[in-house]
Amino acid sequence: MNEQSLSNLIRSKTDIVDIIGERIPLVKKGKNFFGICPFHDDNNPSMSVSKEKQIYTCFTCHATGNVFKFLMDYEKMSFVEVLQYLGNRAGISTDGIGLSKSNTKYDKYYEMYDFSNKYYQNNLLSTAGIKAREYLKKRGIDKETIKQFQIGLSLPNSDDLAQFLTKKKYDIVDLNTLGLCTNNYDVYKDRIMFPLFDINGKVVGFSGRIYKDTKDNKYLNTKETPIFIKGEQLYNYHIARDNVRTAKYVIVMEGFMDVIRASTIGVYNAIALMGTALTKEQMKLIKRLSQNIVLCLDGDGPGQSAAYKIGEEFQKEGIEVKIVTLPNNDDPDTFILKEGKDKFLTYIEEAQNFNDYKINIMRSNVNFQSDIEKAKYVNDVLTELVNVNDEIRVEIILKKLAKEFDLGYNTLEKKFSSIKKDKPQEKLKLPPKTDIKRKNKYRQAIEQIVYYMLTNEWVISEVEKKHLLLPDDDLRIIVQEIIYYYKKYGVINIADFYTYLQEKKELIGSLDDILNSSYSEDVSKDILCLYFDVIKEYCRKMQISKIENKMSLEVDPLEQAKLADEIRRLRIGE
Ligand code: CTP
Ligand code: MN
Repeated sequence: MNEQSLSNLIRSKTDIVDIIGERIPLVKKGKNFFGICPFHDDNNPSMSVSKEKQIYTCFTCHATGNVFKFLMDYEKMSFVEVLQYLGNRAGISTDGIGLSKSNTKYDKYYEMYDFSNKYYQNNLLSTAGIKAREYLKKRGIDKETIKQFQIGLSLPNSDDLAQFLTKKKYDIVDLNTLGLCTNNYDVYKDRIMFPLFDINGKVVGFSGRIYKDTKDNKYLNTKETPIFIKGEQLYNYHIARDNVRTAKYVIVMEGFMDVIRASTIGVYNAIALMGTALTKEQMKLIKRLSQNIVLCLDGDGPGQSAAYKIGEEFQKEGIEVKIVTLPNNDDPDTFILKEGKDKFLTYIEEAQNFNDYKINIMRSNVNFQSDIEKAKYVNDVLTELVNVNDEIRVEIILKKLAKEFDLGYNTLEKKFSSIKKDKPQEKLKLPPKTDIKRKNKYRQAIEQIVYYMLTNEWVISEVEKKHLLLPDDDLRIIVQEIIYYYKKYGVINIADFYTYLQEKKELIGSLDDILNSSYSEDVSKDILCLYFDVIKEYCRKMQISKIENKMSLEVDPLEQAKLADEIRRLRIGE
């Protein structure tokens, strides 16, 4: 089976509504399903998924495609990875696929990390690993967990890994580039090695921890490399992804030891920031996992100020996170060890809405002896409440405030409404629409015909018979490709034709445009002819203006007369 037939088969056994629905909540409205578009800053569900056509379109950012394109863009998978993933789900063998394709230039890098990872893991299990194993055991990390997180050990020798990999014919230069070596010597010496995975589960870096009494930095992390992008790193992302789908929320922690500990009590939907800073890229990735985010950072000062800051950043994006406040000396790791599973789960369940958390913090700073401070606090709370999307919660808080400060509920309500009215409504962030071509009615007519061709097979032969002259290159090629495809496969549908065109970037853009234009699918021969006429009319006009041009440059009166005659004949439609 060739790749096109195989991908069509896999696609036909896959429902795009299931695949997208497992990642983004979808609501059925009429024939289609709607959800928040993950490809732009969306607040209203503007992505529509068609079960019938097996494509998605976003009417705001115009993201469009079939299930393959969705997974490639959303999960950052390659086409071959998508085929393997969906093939696997549908029980269709994809053996041998992609093998003939040339390796990406990073494949060697991934391989080197893969070997290093296995090598370090072996070290930990060897006699050289006794002390490290003891350390892990003392911390309550059992064999199962070591295996699960692929924990390893770098040996004290200064060129251990370098030797191992260069013997395998890898270049020392690449080892330096990848942050495994520096100046041809091993970067990691005598550290417990935690592999760091990218979002697809490939090892792309390490964090090495000291385990003896030394004054070295506790953790040593891989430097930024072509495959290790620090700003996008989130520990355990690839594992959490599947578990977040069932748990319906994601827990964000600081350290990977916290995440590892959580897994020992069966909590698999946690990821770690690897510190307290949150980058824009990390934020996007987290939002992609779930809009239900529970922040469970360390209980210390830095952890708590980070929770506040991160909470505010998500608030700006219209997401209200929940906050778990652990006791001051604990991080999730120590808390779980001390207090156990049930207590930890209770903390997670009782996580505070960010707005309540913020109001509490504001409250703790008020001097209640001062009327001025009290008034300021009440006003601040009212301002903050504008961010709360739940009217009932707003009312509860207003009532509490009224009672506590002995104020009239109506006074507070009135003030609240006026603050709300004054707050500039955030404009819907739309992506720039620079690339949208102005369409004249001729282009629209051709687009409509293309759409008919993709939705009503009989139209294809009608178009072929007509030998239309199509002025726009992109649409002309698309029409030719549709005819070619239909002849070759005997059937056509939008979703498969999409796969077929995906290598041709210029054409995909034009096809996206057509699918985004909500053209009608209903067509009769008569209607089709009307569209043909529009195009013919256009071609005639084009020809006439071309000849007129030629005529204006012509000096020979005889030639001029010939051209004039040609124009006349075109005008009367001969
Ligand atoms: N970190 C780092 N370098 C350090 C300290 C911390 O890169 N010198 C990162 C690590 O990724 C770590 C995270 O910040 O996972 C959180 O740090 P910390 O809370 O100190 O780590 P713990 O998870 O508590 O680690 P441990 O329990 O092993 O001390
Ligand atoms: Mn810790």
